[in-house]
Amino acid sequence: MDKFLSLCSLSTSVGVMDRQYFLSCKVALLLLHLMPCGLQCMSVHILNEEPVHVMPDSSLVLKARIEQGPLEEVSVVTWEREPETGLSPERVTLATCPGRSQKCAGTRPNVHVNVAQQETTLQINGYSGVDGAVYTVTVTDHKGAKTSSQCIVRTYEAVHHVSVSINVSHSSLVCGEAWGTDPHFSWLHERVAITETVGRVSKDGTTLFVTKTPICGHFTCMVSNKLGHSSATYTAAPCETEGRGTTAAVVCSLLLLLFGGVLAYLLWRRHRYSNRGERLHEHLDDTI
Ligand SMILES: *[C@@H]1O[C@H](CO)[C@@H](O)[C@H](O)[C@H]1NC(C)=O
Repeated sequence: MDKFLSLCSLSTSVGVMDRQYFLSCKVALLLLHLMPCGLQCMSVHILNEEPVHVMPDSSLVLKARIEQGPLEEVSVVTWEREPETGLSPERVTLATCPGRSQKCAGTRPNVHVNVAQQETTLQINGYSGVDGAVYTVTVTDHKGAKTSSQCIVRTYEAVHHVSVSINVSHSSLVCGEAWGTDPHFSWLHERVAITETVGRVSKDGTTLFVTKTPICGHFTCMVSNKLGHSSATYTAAPCETEGRGTTAAVVCSLLLLLFGGVLAYLLWRRHRYSNRGERLHEHLDDTI
């Protein structure tokens, strides 16, 4: 039906089709709308964005939308799950709900399932690592036809094992983190946020393109998420510009002091000698 629809609208927009074809298109569309459930019958779709990450001890809530034709009836809604990996993943039923009735038979005390007119909700309280799985909701209609939707659920993990490595040929530092959900990266140079004179951070935050040459000092990559943060530091050769500057300043002042001292000494000497000369003259005058 979708294809048919797009064909109809395509020819409308092109505007070169003949009038008769346009009319038959319209009539066919009208007929399709009048049919009990179009060409496709009941459908179900989990609304959560995949993969769903859940914090330990919190609640997992999955919501699914049920689409049905006017003459169709939901007969059974089933929620199941199976491990995401493994050789022969075993599917386990969490709840089975007869359509229209609010009562669902859950298999565990912390599992709650709700079926409403056009949606069904699964809630698992006190989520733990073993609840990470592929979840499936299946809707069976009154004729026994089944339709289902799946969703991957994983545990929200803290960040750890952060590392920083250097790409010498491209003057860049790459921050790698082996574990952690939804990581956010930030960079520091000598414990201060990166400025343009030091470098530029890539859009995803994982790479720092260093503009400062030569690369020196401590570069720290900090990775954080809702559960905390972890960081790693790359240590390059110490930055010498500052060190060299102070050394030069010290040497300069010492030289100036020395020069000043010598000058003062010379002046003092000259003054003393000229005084002595005058005294000599005085002495001579007295004796004459
Ligand atoms: C350095 O970075 C460039 C560009 O991102 C990449 O193609 C290259 O493989 C990297 N080299 C190393 C040794 O990682």
